[in-house]
Amino acid sequence: MSDVVKGIVVDIDGPIVKAINMNTAGMLDVVYVGEKSLVGEIIKLDRGKATIQIYEENSMMGIGDEVVSHKRPLSVLLGPGLLEGIYDGIQRPLMELSRTGGNFLLPGVKADPISFDKKWKFVPIAKKGDLVSAGTKIGYVDETALVRHFIMIPPDTKSGKIDYISGEEDKTVLETVAKLDNGAEIKMAHYWSVRKPRPYKERLSMNRPLITGQRVIDMFFPIARGGTAAIPGGFGTGKTMTQHALAKWSDADIIVYIGCGERGNEMTDVLNEFPHLIDPKSKQPLMKRTILIANTSNMPVAAREVSIYTGVTIAEYFRDMGYNVAIMADSTSRWAEALRELSGRLEEMPAEEGFPAYLPTRLAEFYERAGLIRTANDEEGSISIIGAVSPPGGDFSEPVTQHTKRFIRCFWALDKSLANARHYPSISWLDSYSEYNDEIKEYWNGVDADILNVRAEAMTILKREERLAQIVKLVGPDSLPDSQRLILLVADLLKKGYLQQSAFDEVDMYSTPKKQSLLLKVIMNFYWSSENTLKLGTPLIKIRELGLVDEIAKLKSTVSNDNTEELENYIFKIKDKFDELMKFYKV
Ligand SMILES: Nc1ncnc2c1ncn2[C@@H]1O[C@H](COP(=O)(O)OP(=O)(O)O)[C@@H](O)[C@H]1O
Ligand SMILES: [Mg+2]
Repeated sequence: MSDVVKGIVVDIDGPIVKAINMNTAGMLDVVYVGEKSLVGEIIKLDRGKATIQIYEENSMMGIGDEVVSHKRPLSVLLGPGLLEGIYDGIQRPLMELSRTGGNFLLPGVKADPISFDKKWKFVPIAKKGDLVSAGTKIGYVDETALVRHFIMIPPDTKSGKIDYISGEEDKTVLETVAKLDNGAEIKMAHYWSVRKPRPYKERLSMNRPLITGQRVIDMFFPIARGGTAAIPGGFGTGKTMTQHALAKWSDADIIVYIGCGERGNEMTDVLNEFPHLIDPKSKQPLMKRTILIANTSNMPVAAREVSIYTGVTIAEYFRDMGYNVAIMADSTSRWAEALRELSGRLEEMPAEEGFPAYLPTRLAEFYERAGLIRTANDEEGSISIIGAVSPPGGDFSEPVTQHTKRFIRCFWALDKSLANARHYPSISWLDSYSEYNDEIKEYWNGVDADILNVRAEAMTILKREERLAQIVKLVGPDSLPDSQRLILLVADLLKKGYLQQSAFDEVDMYSTPKKQSLLLKVIMNFYWSSENTLKLGTPLIKIRELGLVDEIAKLKSTVSNDNTEELENYIFKIKDKFDELMKFYKV
């Protein structure tokens, strides 16, 4: 049986094409259509008739065009050269294409996903005679100033002994760097199907947070390394800003950013902005540890549909090297809309709001590829996935938000009223949740043995304020006793001095766990001292007159991450001030 299948186009409906004579082709095989060899994928096969979704602009395609399949699945090429890459949904390098094609969307324009000419200095770490198997690291390339790219035996390779391994030498990704005694030739790059998760030894239980430097997230609604989170929010509530902050500040080694632009120019903003972002830790360009997958609004919907799988496959490859990878997908609602459009063209029976019935399955297939795992080399690697969701009108009851909720364990609900009040990040402390608190509690205990109790008490205050605010609306604040007005005062302090964190404030844009913990303790020490003092009969007004409140609210911006002892000293200052006040009011 030949390894090439040739069929003929008989029907075209936008990105969906039907072809006959495809009997020996397989489901999900990649095909090349017409003179321009436009890339497509077989999504349905019925007695030799293939339904194909086309990943490139196909207005020039015609009935009778030839369809060629090599009986291989849609794959990405994995090897040195991925980092700093800016790709479309099927890993076409946008910058290369824009250089050759002017407009980077010219149909059929081909460019290799990673350079086939560039030489990388291969450094061996395995030696002749070593027994190696799928996933074993045999060498590395220092791909960028920030990332050592390990060369691994590809997953589908049979184990064997190394017969030959290259010395320290400059090689292209097409050259052989090792040979096994079973005949396998190992190169620095290999293809892997985007729809098939890469194998690993075992899934591990998560035990530490992905630190993001954002207090409302890390302290109150943390995501574990290897965890999943959703950021649902209406237009303009801060989804993209939050994703960017996470890309910059989270303690992941590798960032895969999948952009499905909301507004026409939003993806262009990302493409312009990302290459200029500086990694705050290394002071190097952030792109040196980032891969960007961009879907602009004029790209075919099918490419957008597949882009999240392309992204997660690249992430798995770096995970297999033992890295912590974070994926940001902004926004998954645009992805779901692509799925809806394709399903409509296929004339499938729609489920809720026109989305196909398999929307939840597809969402699950994406989020399930997150996790903390043991690699073939007995190291730990992780993928954390953070997906933005943009429900129309900010209504969280719609299908994409609701189904996403089933597969994520961390929900950062953006609140329109907070955004309107310029409370950023507008993550609601009442509607958000994290199911990781228990798994990562040892981490926070290690930062400060008390902090989890302090956090719980702070959350109680925020919840009590919510109820008191209702009463205040009805009868005004004057009717409340001082003890309750203190709750309002401290809740306000928690909001202004803790939960709000401006992405534009040089000092405050990132908070170390130590600073997060001490800042919360400062606020809560103020609360405890106030509460004790009130009990002894001091009026709240006298506490206000201490002048601490405004000062505490500003500590987040006045105390830098390197000077957290100032926060420790501030706790003593609070104590002293209250001691003085007490002296006055002692009965
Ligand atoms: N953490 C933040 N710090 C400061 N400003 C913010 C923050 N988050 C959002 N904003 C403001 O909100 C605006 C809209 O945010 P954006 O992320 O573009 O919203 P969305 O992606 O949800 O439509 C931003 O341009 C910025 O002015
Ligand atoms: Mg946005």
